[in-house]
Amino acid sequence: MQKIIAELEDKRAQARLGGGQRRIDVQHGKGKLTARERLDVLLDPGSFEEYDMFVTHRATDFDMADTIIPGDGVVTGWGMIEGRMVYVFSQDFTVFGGSLSETHAKKICKVMDLALQNGAPIIGLNDSGGARIQEGVASLGGYADVFWRNVQASGAVPQISVIMGPCAGGAVYSPAMTDFIYMVKDTSYMFVTGPDVVKTVTNETVTQEELGGASTHTKISSVADAAFDNDIETLLEVRRLFGFLPLAAGQKPPRLPTHDPIDRDDASLDTIIPDSASQPYDMREVIHKVADGGDFLQIQQDHAGNILCGFIRLDGNTVGVVANQPLVLAGCLDINASKKAARFIRFCDSFEIPILTFVDVPGFLPGVAQEYGGIIKHGAKLLFAYAEATVPLVTVITRKAYGGAYDVMASKHIKADVNYAWPSAEIAVMGAKGATEILYRSELGDKDKIAQRTADYEARFANPFVAAERGFIDDVIMPHGTRRRVIRAFSTLRNKTVSVPKKKHGNIPL
Ligand code: HXC
Repeated sequence: MQKIIAELEDKRAQARLGGGQRRIDVQHGKGKLTARERLDVLLDPGSFEEYDMFVTHRATDFDMADTIIPGDGVVTGWGMIEGRMVYVFSQDFTVFGGSLSETHAKKICKVMDLALQNGAPIIGLNDSGGARIQEGVASLGGYADVFWRNVQASGAVPQISVIMGPCAGGAVYSPAMTDFIYMVKDTSYMFVTGPDVVKTVTNETVTQEELGGASTHTKISSVADAAFDNDIETLLEVRRLFGFLPLAAGQKPPRLPTHDPIDRDDASLDTIIPDSASQPYDMREVIHKVADGGDFLQIQQDHAGNILCGFIRLDGNTVGVVANQPLVLAGCLDINASKKAARFIRFCDSFEIPILTFVDVPGFLPGVAQEYGGIIKHGAKLLFAYAEATVPLVTVITRKAYGGAYDVMASKHIKADVNYAWPSAEIAVMGAKGATEILYRSELGDKDKIAQRTADYEARFANPFVAAERGFIDDVIMPHGTRRRVIRAFSTLRNKTVSVPKKKHGNIPL
């Protein structure tokens, strides 16, 4: 028996060494952790149980039979994050560059199947040269097997992708179909075709980093949701994100007991709205002041800054926040903001996460570029996502709620549950100046008259009461009491049930 145990230990040690010490040193030299070291950071200490450590590839072409490395370039299994179960895979770049073979794919598929069957999220740590070149179509088939499972799991269990090295070619489409993508700055990149192919086809000269680095994907393309300085920081942030999420559809997110009192007033909110309607303020401050302990985890912080999306807790419960940000583009809705918020809302709705919306929106951004880019279709995504959502929806209008954007931003008309307005709210078809210029075009030459008309319009419409008179606003609340009021509103919605018409699925304008 002792001999067998010793053999087992030898085999395990060999598997743990992956592609060997030299390649581990190269990995460390790039500032990257190995596949197993990453899991050590991601998971609670001692909680990882590895599966398929002894799996090997079956390839024989290109002398592959001579290079058998147990585990075949991916570490898979399950573990815990803050005591909650998660399935994981972590690609090992030291083994054939983390490339995906038929058996490597089978290992990933196994943990994805288990995650779905057992109702636990799946986190994939990606660090791979793509399809295992020596295996050809068997590898492509393996990718497709993973893609199919990504789609089956979508909306059933949360899926998180972490890009920690190369992720190129068709390989990008697995992360792209998961719920969140985090990247590591400077050491990770994603693109469908690399710089060399780009140069050949379009004659554009671009570096890997410019084409598909963390900065590109968090700021420009919005493919990634966040990026952090190194492996450790990124994995710790994944743990933080995980803490906001339920394990599976139909389950509630975990409650994190808080010392922050439910009825904590914040007097500074009473003065946060500037005197002038055209002056901006930072909506993040409002969110921080309402959230438990001021904790706000932003999604896509560096993209479409005119809308804020992310998670907070209220009385310990996860809440998704969507908020117009007057600091950027005056908080207008544009194509990018609509897409960003629509996707976030759909995630929350899939996983029973209530949504709190803060509104200060002067409307949709005008412009040829927006119209040519399809703001009609993309703005419709946001409207569709809100109208389709059946999770509890609470809305607070802090200042402007103009035009179509008023309807879109979780108004009562599209079945948001509770709408509050601050006394500073202005709920109208448009701002006073624009309205007066259209209604009284013939008087435009007379500055005094127009000023009077504008003042009259403001007095009549630049307030929350016209909407409140019709019941479109449930109450006009004092800003300092916002935390208490929204927590109480959500508490009434805990057992909300909604019936939806029988259908396969809606047809959101994509
Ligand atoms: C087999 C691979 C490999 C691959 C890397 N390696 N990629 N082995 N299949 N796809 C091996 C290398 O031979 C090398 O082995 C080791 O991994 C490390 O690679 P290096 O090139 O030394 O590392 P680095 O300089 O960091 O460059 C990393 C890299 C480069 C940029 C990823 O390796 C690369 O360009 N690889 C090929 C990428 C590619 O074209 N993949 C196919 C894409 S198409 P040794 O033994 O020397 O350590 C695709 C289709 C998916 O993925 C379709 C899905 C539908």
